[in-house]
Amino acid sequence: MYSKKVMEHFLNPRNKGKLENADAVGRVGNPVCGDVMYIYIKVKDGKIADIGWETMGCAAAIATSSMLSELAKGKSLEEAMKISRKDIAEALEGLPPIKMHCSNLAAEGLHKAIENYRKRDEVMEEFSKIVGEKDAKALWQAGISSLEELRKTSIEEIANVVSREGMEKIREFLKK
Ligand code: FES
Repeated sequence: MYSKKVMEHFLNPRNKGKLENADAVGRVGNPVCGDVMYIYIKVKDGKIADIGWETMGCAAAIATSSMLSELAKGKSLEEAMKISRKDIAEALEGLPPIKMHCSNLAAEGLHKAIENYRKRDEVMEEFSKIVGEKDAKALWQAGISSLEELRKTSIEEIANVVSREGMEKIREFLKK
């Protein structure tokens, strides 16, 4: 069912794992299957200097994350924005039609990480006003990239990343 290339990336994934101190994170969920993916990027001189990912998904989602990370590493942000699900599927020598939606997740995750990177200063300023700089950074690195997303994120998830004091401040903010 899967190409040799898909199996190779699934069994030996590249750049797997969370990037500590990522400049931006793209968090995406797949409405078709409910799977979730995080793409972490570090940017230097307008290029993707480093990339990591965490994928709670199927073999195709893992292979596409791995392939995406290889395609994106070293590219300028403009070039990386152009990586499509078709590019990823082709680099993997094809995906079964029923699995094409999985490659969507990886491309979307990368594009979201880049979009988030571009609005980082603005969002960090908003978060910092609510919880202070340290917790603002923790929210950002968990892939929460706007006040709207913060409102939609579960209390449990927020509590996992911010300090107790930060949590109190967020509770106050969410009541407003
Ligand atoms: S089945 Fe969910 S990402 Fe593939």
